Amino acid sequence: MENFAFYNPVKILFGKGQIANIAAEIPTEAKILVTYGGGSIKTNGVYEQVKAALAGHDFLEFGGIEPNPHLETLLKAVELIRTEGINFLLAVGGGSVLDGTKFIAAAVNFEGDPWDILAKQAPVKSALPFGTVLTLPATGSEMNTNSVVTKWETQEKLFFASPLVFPKFSVLDPETTYSLPPRQIGNGIVDAFTHVVEQYLTYPANAPLQDRWAESILQTLIEEGPKTLANPHDYASRANVVWSATLALNGMIGTGVPQDWTTHMIGHELTALHGLDHAQTLAVVLPNTLTVRRDRKREKLLQYAERVWDLVDGDEEARIDQAIQKTRDFFESVGVRTKLSDYGVGLDVIPLITDRFEKRGFVALGEHQDVTPKVVEQILALCA
Ligand code: NZQ
Ligand code: ZN
Repeated sequence: MENFAFYNPVKILFGKGQIANIAAEIPTEAKILVTYGGGSIKTNGVYEQVKAALAGHDFLEFGGIEPNPHLETLLKAVELIRTEGINFLLAVGGGSVLDGTKFIAAAVNFEGDPWDILAKQAPVKSALPFGTVLTLPATGSEMNTNSVVTKWETQEKLFFASPLVFPKFSVLDPETTYSLPPRQIGNGIVDAFTHVVEQYLTYPANAPLQDRWAESILQTLIEEGPKTLANPHDYASRANVVWSATLALNGMIGTGVPQDWTTHMIGHELTALHGLDHAQTLAVVLPNTLTVRRDRKREKLLQYAERVWDLVDGDEEARIDQAIQKTRDFFESVGVRTKLSDYGVGLDVIPLITDRFEKRGFVALGEHQDVTPKVVEQILALCA
């Protein structure tokens, strides 16, 4: 196992009716900005619950944060915060609202151009405190330090991370997710699944506990994902998917182990250039990352085949093939298509992506840092 530091201070309020308890988590004298997306919270009862919970507090609202939140929109919230003297944020929505709010929190007191936080990885020295009410299980943003923001003007999608943007608290009430359309439920399952694979399917690091945590999240998503799609108001299965998605990317399963993230880095470019949903890009890229990297990931692929998909018979190559095929089939079974052509995207996207990687000066991706732009090209060539 590699050395690691693990720190995660996010207070989780899990379960039915927990929105009612947020007032106790926010200082009474706080001046709050409630941030949200395109309006789903106004039609599913979540907004009413938040408003009731904040009855004793002073708050304003900022709506209109897009999926794959835009820098241009978030900067408008920064202006509002400065004018109104806001000192606490409450993000209510999916990963985009949460990520956007993390950026807003970091940008308010940033000296210089806030895009540098992403484009130049400029250090974040302070951030406004904030809490979250999560309405879409997928990203893990409710319990991590990551934020992904898109600059619309240049179609760039970049991330930053800082311990200063850990939420103070996050409400995970599975009932707030009942209104999700099937497309977003499927997306969430694929995103959480891929987060686990990025941290698990690398090479053995003598970390059996982290491996089994990872495998148990994958198995839970495989068991509970189809149940929650078939019966969206089944509280038990939705609760299990919500908690799986949070634990998939709250830092715990990644302690002391190598991590990949090739699929995510390629996926962000596909979203930036062609507007695919985040999870759609992962469903397309992940099976092909595993295929191209099968020699580098051989031992873990065999472990994954056996422990997650129960593939123990036949020769090793065939087991690896089947494990990759089962991964693809699972994504399709939860309604997320796995080919670029399913989204009307051609292979002419490949040079655009490899050029971007080269221009940003990255050396290589992956757990061995040997996924060069050439390897990215091989992966994308299989995505047709
Ligand atoms: O905007 P509203 O009207 O709220 O509608 C949203 C949006 O259209 C809707 N939605 C959310 N909750 C709902 C609901 N509709 C009905 N009922 C509800 N309860 O769902 C749509 C998609 O929402 P979005 O927040 O964009 O989805 P998701 O949670 O998948 O977030 C995706 C973003 O997170 C980033 C992605 O790159 C993408 O920008 N990620 C963030 C990560 C992190 N912070 O650690 C890691 C991930 O790998 C990912 O990169
Ligand atoms: Zn993701």
